[in-house]
Amino acid sequence: MRTYADHQGRSEVAGDLMVRALRAEEIEAVRSVGQKSWSDLASRDLGRKVRYPLRPRKVIEAYLWKEPLGCFVAEQQGRIIGSAFCHVWGRIGWVGPFEVLPEKQNMGVGKALMRTCDQYLQEQGCRIFGLETMPHVTKNIHFYLKAGYVASSMTLISVKSLTGDAPAPGQEVSEVGLADLGWLLPEASRLSAKVNPLLDYSKEVEMAVRFDLGGCYVWRQREVVKGFAILHSVHPPEDSDHASIRMMAVDPDAKDGADGFSALMDACEARAMSMGRKRVFARYSAENLPLYQALLARAYRLESANMRMTRGGSLQESGPYHLAAWAG
Ligand SMILES: CC(C)(COP(=O)(O)OP(=O)(O)OC[C@H]1O[C@@H](n2cnc3c(N)ncnc32)[C@H](O)[C@@H]1OP(=O)(O)O)[C@@H](O)C(=O)NCCC(=O)NCCS
Repeated sequence: MRTYADHQGRSEVAGDLMVRALRAEEIEAVRSVGQKSWSDLASRDLGRKVRYPLRPRKVIEAYLWKEPLGCFVAEQQGRIIGSAFCHVWGRIGWVGPFEVLPEKQNMGVGKALMRTCDQYLQEQGCRIFGLETMPHVTKNIHFYLKAGYVASSMTLISVKSLTGDAPAPGQEVSEVGLADLGWLLPEASRLSAKVNPLLDYSKEVEMAVRFDLGGCYVWRQREVVKGFAILHSVHPPEDSDHASIRMMAVDPDAKDGADGFSALMDACEARAMSMGRKRVFARYSAENLPLYQALLARAYRLESANMRMTRGGSLQESGPYHLAAWAG
């Protein structure tokens, strides 16, 4: 395989297969690859035909904005047959979504995409690399093990049914928008580094605000920002009835961190309800027992779990009120 990095980013060529940076005009093709690969996987899993919804266009546009040279396609004879998206959270780099057309699987296309993603994340200065996958899909586990990744932890996925009255947002929590980015992004960097010095969530926060992916909230104590949360609500209502708490970081040293967590959760749930969503998802580390218990107390029930696989070590988190998943 020939590899070179040109002005459009990293590319790889092997025979008639080329892995290169995604172009904006290929977003529809990538959406279709995603729909076909997940529909195929789910249909084989369940033993009946399942049709996955298309991933919202806005999400792919947002990823392309966030990492313009880190979104990759596999092209063969002018056709897009696979795609993979890199995410750089400071010195942590992860990949997802990652998809190859069903009829093109098991021919090395995934390996070529993965290699390109690895090299890209390395060039961005990442130290820990990873992804999350379904623990029952042995093919994926084999695939990532062969690429040098090992199982490092589990990510829990808990869900709450939203019923009754929306929680009233506390006074210390406020919604933030475009006009706040100037002060918000350094605060997001500072807070994520307190969770782990390798982490920087500021780009993720900026993406959520710029692309209006759901809602972004901060918790302040005596005017000092002590936590933030991002809600995603990106699927059209006909495709999905849920929203997701994409991320939350509460200062591990904050006095009354539990109150901040509670207020940020209230804000996210209230927004999800105001958007007509019936359920809200939360994803977080299975090593975080206090968070599991805090979510249980808020009527979140465990729905499923993903396996996090990493290269270069595993991420240690400080403080109980930290929610994030390495899944796109
Ligand atoms: C995961 C995915 C991207 C891999 O792409 P791919 O092009 O099939 O990958 P490759 O051809 O490079 O490698 C596939 C490997 O899995 C192996 N494999 C295939 N079926 C397998 C099975 N049932 N059990 C174990 N290994 C299996 C192949 O033999 C090959 O391994 P090898 O190199 O040791 O021979 C692709 O299967 C896909 O799109 N899946 C659906 C969506 C998905 O699950 N995405 C990943 C989410 S984390």
